[in-house]
Order: sequence, then C-alpha cells, then structure tokens
Amino acid sequence: MKIFHNILLTLLTLGVGVIVVTTLIDGWTYYQLPQAERVLQEEAHKMFGAAGFAGHGLGILAGIFFLGLFLYVFRKHLKFMRRWGKLNIWLRYHIFMGISAPILATVHSAFKFQGVISIGYYSMMAVALSGFIGRYLYGHIPRRKSGEELSLRQVHLDRAETIRRLEFEFGLKGPDIQKLVAFSTPRSIERWGILNLFRILWDDLSRWFQARRLARYFQHKYGLPPSEVNYLTRAIAKQRMLVQRIAFLDIVHKVFHWWHVIHKPFAYTVLVILVLHVAVTVSFGSTWIFKND
Ligand code: HEM
Repeated sequence: MKIFHNILLTLLTLGVGVIVVTTLIDGWTYYQLPQAERVLQEEAHKMFGAAGFAGHGLGILAGIFFLGLFLYVFRKHLKFMRRWGKLNIWLRYHIFMGISAPILATVHSAFKFQGVISIGYYSMMAVALSGFIGRYLYGHIPRRKSGEELSLRQVHLDRAETIRRLEFEFGLKGPDIQKLVAFSTPRSIERWGILNLFRILWDDLSRWFQARRLARYFQHKYGLPPSEVNYLTRAIAKQRMLVQRIAFLDIVHKVFHWWHVIHKPFAYTVLVILVLHVAVTVSFGSTWIFKND
C-alpha cells in the first residue's frame, strides 16, 4: 500500500509542479507588469488575472487543497475514522496539500496581495512554514510505522535490542558498551531548558559523523573488516538517536504542545477568511467557467 501512496503523491506533486511552472512561464510578461497596466492587456488579464481562466482555476485548486488538508484533522480526531488507514499516510497528504495550497494561491493572486484576503494569505504562509517546524518535532516523538506514538517501554526495548546486537554481532566488551552508553547519553538536560532544542538540532546534524568516528575506533580495536563500518555506524547512530529521543521526549512534547496551540488558531483564521473571500467573489459574479447566463 505504501508504494501506491508513494506513486500517487509523486504524480500529484509532478502534476502541481507542471501546472505552476507552465502558468508562470506563459504568464511571465503579465506578472511583471505594474497593477494599472495589467487590465490594459485584456487577453492576458482574462487568462492570468486572479479572476482569469488560469488564475481563477488555480485559486479553486488551492481552495480544494486547503480544505483537503483538514481531512487529516478529521482522521485524527473523529472516532469513526480511526480505522481509515494509517495516520502517517494521511499526514503525508496533509503536508502535500499544505505545501501546494500556498504555492497555488500565490500564482492565483497574480502576486498582488491586498485587502482582507492578504491577511488570510500571510496567515496561510505562516501556518505552512510553521508546519515544517511541526514536522520536525513530530519526527522526534518515537512512533510505530503507522504513525501512532510508541510507549517509553517499547523505546527502551528497542534500545536494549540494538545494544544486544552490537554485543553479539561485533563482540563489543563491557567497557566499550559503557563507552557506547556514555556516547549516547546527553548530560545536564535540566540546565539547558528550552535551549535543548538547539542540542537536538545539532545532534541530528552531527550524529552520523560522530557515530562513524566511534565505529572506526571499534573497527581498529576489534579488527573488524572495513565492510562492516557502515553497518556499525548505522547501529551506533540508531542507538544514540533512540537514547536522545527518550532523553528529550519531555521537552519535545511540551514544545510540540505549544506549537499546536499556535498553529491551530492560525489555520482556522485562514479557513474563515477563505470562506468569506469565496462568498464575496461569488456574490460579485466571479464563477469561473460556471456562468449562469
Ligand atoms: C496552509 C497550510 C497548513 C494548514 C492550514 C495546516 C493545518 C494544520 C492543523 C489545523 C493541524 C492540527 C491537527 C490536529 O488537530 O492535531 C496541523 C497539524 C500538523 N501539520 Fe499542518 N497545516 C498546514 C501545512 C502544513 C505543512 C506544510 C506541514 C509540513 C511541512 C504541516 C505539518 C503538520 C504536522 C506535523 C502536524 C501535527 C500532526 C499531529 O500532531 O498529529 N502542516 N496542521
């Protein structure tokens, strides 16, 4: 099933990419004109203006994607949807729509942001950008493959299993196991407070290189073949990652909670502004290809 979603998401991403790039290329001259001159280019305006054929079409697609990304929220919170597929797959579609909607809305606006809708537009940008921070934090909460959170007990078991493998497969002895444990365990977490977030980021960037250094040390000490270094590096890095995830879990949970508290109201503000925007434009007769005369 995963392969199906990978293919579908790739096709959807390509589809959006092609639509956006071709519109930008075709409308390039129009988009560069100052506001007052755009209406004089009647044909281009009817195509690339926010109410034009392509422009309005992109706006409708942006609106559909924007509404579509709330499906993840329904799947997450509504009881009757609990069995409707894995949560992490829904999140991937949420992210796809959360990135596509602002891009499509930008081209739909023909790069002109004024009035109440501009508040909605910038809020949408803010929510989408903060989505990347949320995704980063989300990745630091240990989960099952389905996307559900793992219990601390399961994480500890996973970690013990990795250490056992290192002991049995590479013959690591007691003091080196201690070395490995010390290498993985972060110190003075309480003292660092919120700054621990930077330690997490630094650890993500440097973990692999540090693990490789230790793997090379073990390779020389135990006379392991060079072909094992990559495998050993991965196992040491995984071990360190698991320990760090447990050690920083409280702080990540707290920050992720506050991230939700800020992220959600912005998202619902955009939703309200979008509904008003659609109601106003339709009431002014902007109905795209659905003319009623
Ligand atoms: C216009 C754009 C977006 C809107 C309106 C939006 C809206 C939301 C909302 C309302 C939630 C809360 C779900 C809940 O009830 O827990 C949420 C969660 C989330 N969003 Fe977005 N989002 C957008 C874009 C993005 C993007 C671009 C990303 C990633 C790059 C992203 C990643 C996430 C993550 C990781 C969560 C938390 C999932 C969880 O706790 O289960 N979002 N989003």
